[in-house]
This record gives sequence, structure tokens and C-alpha cells, in this order.
Amino acid sequence: MPDPTTLLTERLQAAFDTVCSGADPVLRPSDRADFQANGALALAKELGRPPRQVAEAVAAALDVAGICERVEVSGPGFVNLVLATSFVEDQVAAMAADVRLGVAPAARPLTVVVTYSHPNVAKEMHVGHLRSTVIGDALCRLLGHLGHRVVRENHIGDWGTNFGMLIEHLVDLGEKEAMRELSVGDLTAFYQRARASFDADEAFRQRSRHRVVLLQSGDPETLRLWQVLVDESVAYFDEVYAKLGVLLTDDDIKGESYYNPMLSQVVTDLRAAGLLVEDAGAQCVFPPGFTNREGEPLPLIVQKSDGGFGYAATDLASVRDRVGNLHADRLLYVVGAPQAQHLHMVFAVCRMAGWLPEETAAEHVNFGSVLGADHRMLRTRSGGSVKLVDLLDEAVERARAAIAERGRDQGDVDVDAVARALGIGAVKYADLSIDRAKDYVFDWDRMLAFEGDTGPYLQYAHARIRSIFRRAGAGGPQAGATGEGTAAPLIAAGDAIHLGEPEERALGIALLGYGAAISAAVEASAPSKLCAYLYGLATTFTSFYERCPVLRAPDAATRHSRLVLADATARVLAEGLQLLGIEAPAHM
Ligand code: ARG
Repeated sequence: MPDPTTLLTERLQAAFDTVCSGADPVLRPSDRADFQANGALALAKELGRPPRQVAEAVAAALDVAGICERVEVSGPGFVNLVLATSFVEDQVAAMAADVRLGVAPAARPLTVVVTYSHPNVAKEMHVGHLRSTVIGDALCRLLGHLGHRVVRENHIGDWGTNFGMLIEHLVDLGEKEAMRELSVGDLTAFYQRARASFDADEAFRQRSRHRVVLLQSGDPETLRLWQVLVDESVAYFDEVYAKLGVLLTDDDIKGESYYNPMLSQVVTDLRAAGLLVEDAGAQCVFPPGFTNREGEPLPLIVQKSDGGFGYAATDLASVRDRVGNLHADRLLYVVGAPQAQHLHMVFAVCRMAGWLPEETAAEHVNFGSVLGADHRMLRTRSGGSVKLVDLLDEAVERARAAIAERGRDQGDVDVDAVARALGIGAVKYADLSIDRAKDYVFDWDRMLAFEGDTGPYLQYAHARIRSIFRRAGAGGPQAGATGEGTAAPLIAAGDAIHLGEPEERALGIALLGYGAAISAAVEASAPSKLCAYLYGLATTFTSFYERCPVLRAPDAATRHSRLVLADATARVLAEGLQLLGIEAPAHM
């Protein structure tokens, strides 16, 4: 059975279709009723009819027998829908009995390639990489949960003319020392010193240029040195990924170098298709619709005048690879907002060349910047860029301090594990819960607060429910010690749920919104939609728990029904957080 939002949208669509085919019902949750459809207003305007009359016609045609107990037209032409409590009770019972919590896998699984994280070899990871990594990770988990075939791609920056200079610096430094610096994550120092030699020393510059030629011609010793740089950097990235707790593995790496052998074919094929235009010596494509401020057509530069390739060629080759070889149905690029025009031009050129069929979606999953308290780009106190590992370590230390201040609810808590879950969870949730296209201010106190829309609040809400079961004694859900994975349902077949109190009913309806929240998050590639849902669920649970005693419920049937509600809430919170890549410890 689909969730109420999906179900009501279907039924409303049928009713709207009787008035005007294809009109959008615009269904929203509502405080006054359970749901409200506002679509009659826009439709009335379009038809030139009084809105209330249109709403009345929709209400009259609406078939919600067994779903709603009341349908009313209100205000200027809203259709208010009140669910039948028996319907909510049956649906919640079915959801609680389902290991998937009522979330069915997609009817048609798609192959989705998600490209994210993509740090650069021998360069420090910064907060931009944090955003890409955290958002991409959540999207992979969400898509995977719906049964899609997810191909993760870490498009690391491991190729280009910079490597001439980096390899020469490695030679000067000696391999041992270079490996030591890189393995401890002194990437910035390494890169900056290579750059300094390049800027100051003509002989070094010449060696670097020669080294680029050797690298491109496949000289074995040069490739070996290049591999040292890549391996040491990747080992360091892996440490950051381990701290973050993300799904990425070395098997997901498909760096720029991987596409290098395909670039000349890109040029050949674009030329054969008649799409290449020479502009100041460079090979360009001018996709229609892209202009600069003066209104002149903008080129996508596929090959520079010196014969070199830039991001555009690599990105074009990667689209061909993902569509042609991986058979992707959907391509997601988790890349910062400043790259929007570049990526849209790449997609447009791929469509022109026939490399990206119409039915294959290519989406720029953009994100804004991380700002400091001064609302400028986040920097260290000395003005340098913030090192990602330092940030993560500080998050864990601050979480540890916050736990110490707050006190623990159990003696046998693994403080290190909880501090990690809380600190990393706080950073991730702060990033995921805002509309990703927006900038946000990195604020330790706000993200680590135990109240408000934060990771720690949700983690505590979950642990508090688990503690109800610990106090209840046997019969509670058997989640693992960390709360990972979905626990076995508490409800037995045929058990009834009673939603007599308004707070019980509200919690039941909130629970039923889980599937719709996941679908919305996946459709819009917006983890924030799941965050908003989980926060709403946690606050609804709090109101329920304040008004409706669970362990001291008036009778055994009510107690059991409330325990089932609590169990389902805990499972949704744990699984929802897990889909965001955030741990939900059972004890805190
Ligand atoms: N490596 C680049 C960086 O660190 C990001 C690559 C973006 N991805 C892409 N497909 N162009 O800024």
C-alpha cells in the first residue's frame, strides 16, 4: 500500500482530471486538516471560474472511501482532507511489521552514476571536498536503499601539467621524505614548495616541462614516480574517508588519468560530427544558448591551442564512458555551484554529439560554500585554508567535551565511539540539512547543540527511545549496540494499533510520511528533505511522549500499541540517519 501522500495524490489527480485533465493538485501537509490540496486556486484562474466552485467540483469527484473521514472545501478554495483514524492505524501496523518500514524498492531500478568527492593528488582536501563527499555519500545510500544500481565515481585530480613540477619536487626531496610528508597529510606544504621552486628556478621549470612530456609519453620511471604521488595521496584521502565514515573505496577511483587515453577520440569524433570550431587556435564547440555578458556565444574549449586538454575534454570522455560502457540511466555530478555553467555546457555538447541520449538524465547536484563566522570563505585563524582532518578531529573533541558536560545515560557507554558518532554526525547533519545550493556558516555551537535541528538532537531522540525499551526489560527491539541496521519489528502479525489520543494519531501520520520523504530526497537529489522529515518526526515523538505514557500506559493493549509506535519511530530515525551516513548509537 503506498503512503498517504502518494495515495491521496493519485486520488486527487483523478478528481482534478474530471475538471481539467493534468491539473496539479498541489498536496501539502496541513495543521488544520491532515492534508490540504491547493491546486483549485491556480486551476480556477486558468479556467476563469470561481475557485470555490472548482474546489467543490474536485471534492465531489474525489474518491477517498476508506482513506479519509472528512473532505471539506475551506477558505478561498482549499480542499482539506482528514484521514480516517482506522486507516492510519492499519497503515502504521503494516509499516511497523515491515522490515523495510513500508518503503518499497523502485519498480524500475536504474543505473545511477554518482561522481563526488574528487580531491586532487598532492593537494589538501578542503571543505568543498567535505560537502561533495558528504552529499554524494548520502545520495548513494538513498539510491541504493531504493534498489537502484549505484556506481560511485571518485574523479580525483591525478593528471595534468602540474605533475611535471610535482614529480621533480619529489625527486629533489627524495622519495622517502616525499612519501613521509604525503602520508602524514602535509599535502599543502608539498604542493606549495613544488610551486615555489617552479616559480623561482628556471632549471626546475625546464625539468618540470620535460617531465610532463615524459609522463605523457608513458616513460616507465616517470609513471612509477607519478604512481608514488597518487598512492600516497590516496592513502591519505582514505584516512579522511575512514574518519568521515563514507562508502567510498579505492575501487571507486576513476581519476582524470583514467580518461586520458580517450581524449583524442573525443576530438576526432566531435570533428567528424562537424561540431568543432577553431577559435584562436583552440578546438571548441559552441553549444546553443550559452553566451557571455556581451551576448556572444561561449565556447567549450575541448583542446587548447598548445594541444593540451582541460577539464572539458575529460568530462566529455567521462560522459561517453558512463553512458556507453556503464549504461547509466542517470548521471549525478556532486560539484560546487561555480561549476554550473561548465557542466551544463558539457551536457549540452554531449547531447549534440549524441553521447547523451534524451532519456538519460544528467544533473549538476550543486552546492554552496562553507563560510566562517565572518560570512566569508571558511579560513583558519592565520588565514590559511582549513584542513579537513583537523576539522574532523576538532568535531570529535568538541563532541567529547559536550558529552562530558551533559552526562551519560548509561554506565557502559563507549565514550570514544559516541564522541565520534556525535562529532562527525554533527558536521554531516549541519551540511546535509540545509538546502544544498545555499552557502552556510560553519558554527560549532549550533551544529553540536542537543536542541534544535541538529545531528545530536536526532541521535539523542533515537537513543532515548531505545532507553525506553531497556527500561521495559525484555521484548525490546534488538538493535546492534551501535544501532546500525534495522532491528526486528516488535509488532506481531495481527497486532492492532490504537491511535486514540491526538498525539498518537499525529505520530502515526508522521511515521507514514517516511517513504514520501525518501522519494522526495532521491528525486531532487536533496538529502535535506529527509533531514527535515526526521526532525519533524523526532519533535512529533517528543510531543507524544510528553502526553502519552508508554511504560505506564493505562492498560496492556495501549502499552503495547505505544511501544510499537516508539519502536517504529526509533527504527525510522536509525535507518534515516544511516541513509544520511550518520551513526545512531543505541546508548549515549
Ligand atoms: N578535482 C576538482 C577539485 O578538487 C573537482 C572535479 C570536479 N568534477 C568534475 N567532473 N569536473 O576542485
